[in-house]
Amino acid sequence: MAADRGLRGIVAGKSSLSLVDGLEGRLIYRGYDILDLAVHSTFEETVYLMWHERLPKRRELEDFKKALVQERQLSEEQLRLLSTFPKDALPMEVLRTMVSHMALFDPDRGDNSPEANLRKGTRLVATFPAFAGAFHRIRNGEEFLPSSPEMDHAASFLHMLHGKEPTPEAARSLDICLLLHVDHEFNASTFSARVTAATLSDLYSAIVSAIGTLKGPLHGGANENAMRMLRKIGELSKAEDYVVQALGRKERIPGFGHPVYKTMDPRATILKDMSKRVCEGIGEPKWYEMSALIQEIMMREKGLYPNVDFYSATTLYALGIPLDLFSTFFACGRVPGWIGHVMEQYSDNRLIRPLSEYIGSKDLKYVPIDER
Ligand SMILES: CC(C)(COP(=O)(O)OP(=O)(O)OC[C@H]1O[C@@H](n2cnc3c(N)ncnc32)[C@H](O)[C@@H]1OP(=O)(O)O)[C@@H](O)C(=O)NCCC(=O)NCCS
Repeated sequence: MAADRGLRGIVAGKSSLSLVDGLEGRLIYRGYDILDLAVHSTFEETVYLMWHERLPKRRELEDFKKALVQERQLSEEQLRLLSTFPKDALPMEVLRTMVSHMALFDPDRGDNSPEANLRKGTRLVATFPAFAGAFHRIRNGEEFLPSSPEMDHAASFLHMLHGKEPTPEAARSLDICLLLHVDHEFNASTFSARVTAATLSDLYSAIVSAIGTLKGPLHGGANENAMRMLRKIGELSKAEDYVVQALGRKERIPGFGHPVYKTMDPRATILKDMSKRVCEGIGEPKWYEMSALIQEIMMREKGLYPNVDFYSATTLYALGIPLDLFSTFFACGRVPGWIGHVMEQYSDNRLIRPLSEYIGSKDLKYVPIDER
């Protein structure tokens, strides 16, 4: 008997990284509720928690932050390579390529021990925003900006993109956004990372698999598509007609629905408040207002709740993240989760190899080529 299409409801393995409670609308990282972490924690501290299974002491957090700062500087070779890419390359394609390239030069290449993977993981988390920021500036003909060692991860991301120091409010908003994206149990990209790791392939290969999976519009591409839709609608007064007509054509509204949550995604609750604040902050409350109206229409018409991508779209937009970098931003947040899952997979590995239900022919006789 075949499993449900898309493996819905199938428990495909054990994990202690995160719990998605789709009925209660809760997300838990290593025992801590995401609502609590979003108020009290930071991206860096949450990454430490995910990798070490406990919150860091002050000194441990400082050391980890220092290691991230050290690793986020790009080499001359990486910058040269970035400058050779087509200017219209998708940032997710660029990220996928840069991670493959980085694997070839990693000093821990060939070492799959947990210690080496933590070092590689730190390099990956540190360089993702640097790749995004550098490519964005290069494609716009702007000078590359080396990251500033005084800045935390989120602030440095905004600085590398925009060339100016962000306000503390903008940096903290982006920091919370990153933290909210860190993990989500066996989502599609994490699962592909684990499938790759389970062959005992290396961490970089697993991360490349995950990037390729996140790139799709049904996964990490939804936040960009949600913002494109809002821009197409343009005005609050046009939202109702647009959504009702799109649903009439059986189109999917990006940022709604979820395979696990049957209620409000807790990340969407946090991001909704943030979206209101940051959209008002740039003097464009209409993006939030349109989103809130579309949320009501989607509930009325389809009974669907917004997922993480819906309100992250307007939040990222108001923070000045270019639309085609939204999925890359998602990857910057999710990469520590991928790394945590890959290390968990290695720690108790078995090749992931399901069956398929064969629905093709069985008894065809071979026909020579001239007789076909
Ligand atoms: C996330 C997603 C892939 C989950 O899909 P799923 O759990 O497999 O749900 P299904 O594809 O089985 O859809 C169930 C029903 O809800 C509808 N539906 C689901 N998401 C919808 C959406 N965003 N807009 C309109 N209708 C939607 C489907 O059309 C289907 O309706 P039907 O039964 O009348 O055909 C899906 O909700 C989606 O495509 N959302 C938009 C993309 C997105 O936001 N992705 C980010 C996920 S974090």
